[in-house]
Amino acid sequence: MGKSKKIVGISSGREGGITDKAVKKILEASQLPYDFISLSSFELLTCNACNGCVTTYQCVKDDQLNEICDIMQQADGIVFGAPEYWNGANGKARVFWERICFSTRHNAQFPLAGTPGIIVGVSGDGDSREVLQDIRVFFEDARIKLIDSIEVQGEYACFTCGYGENCEVGGLADIYELPTIINDKTTPSLCNQYPHKLQPGKDITKQLTRLGKALANRFSANQPDI
Ligand SMILES: Cc1cc2nc3c(=O)[nH]c(=O)nc-3n(C[C@H](O)[C@H](O)[C@H](O)COP(=O)(O)O)c2cc1C
Repeated sequence: MGKSKKIVGISSGREGGITDKAVKKILEASQLPYDFISLSSFELLTCNACNGCVTTYQCVKDDQLNEICDIMQQADGIVFGAPEYWNGANGKARVFWERICFSTRHNAQFPLAGTPGIIVGVSGDGDSREVLQDIRVFFEDARIKLIDSIEVQGEYACFTCGYGENCEVGGLADIYELPTIINDKTTPSLCNQYPHKLQPGKDITKQLTRLGKALANRFSANQPDI
């Protein structure tokens, strides 16, 4: 019998935000042991391209990125979720992946190569294609095997800033006629997606669950080892 599988989920969203929740939903649905890492708990530094990682495959900066990288290398599957900030994955996601990809790519060594992965893109208006595209570039560079991705509608910070109901330049203006009322019905959640258009009240948890099961199925007995 093969060694038991363990997966890791990483989110670059707000602590307890929609990205954290969507990634966790996939992890739970897999019914595999997992680690969950919210990058909100870390102040990540940027890559200086100092080449300090060339022989060690470890970043020289001391901000726990290497610990996360070790967990990723031990994992049999990776779920990564990022929110959209200004038409792309947020800066925290990019800072994270720039350093993961650079420190693990020297001398044609790609320790994450072949690991199956899923990308979760979260955005205020539900169109998260640009997030998926940004993270896909890093998956490709690290040779992570993308098995699926999903777009989730998140909750604009404008829902809680205090001015969102009337603010013409805020996120609610993208999805509602203003003024609007902020309540459970108008606030997006995993169980209440696209409330303003398309499919009001759509529940995305089923799709997230399907992705978790699909990841777990990669390791089932009748699947070839990947
Ligand atoms: C600085 C900032 C910029 C954002 N830019 C966009 C954007 O360009 N398009 C969009 O649809 N949502 C945008 N959003 C909304 C976020 O994608 C949304 O709030 C998401 O739910 C955040 O994920 P979280 O709940 O996991 O933190 C932005 C949010 C912030 C804070």
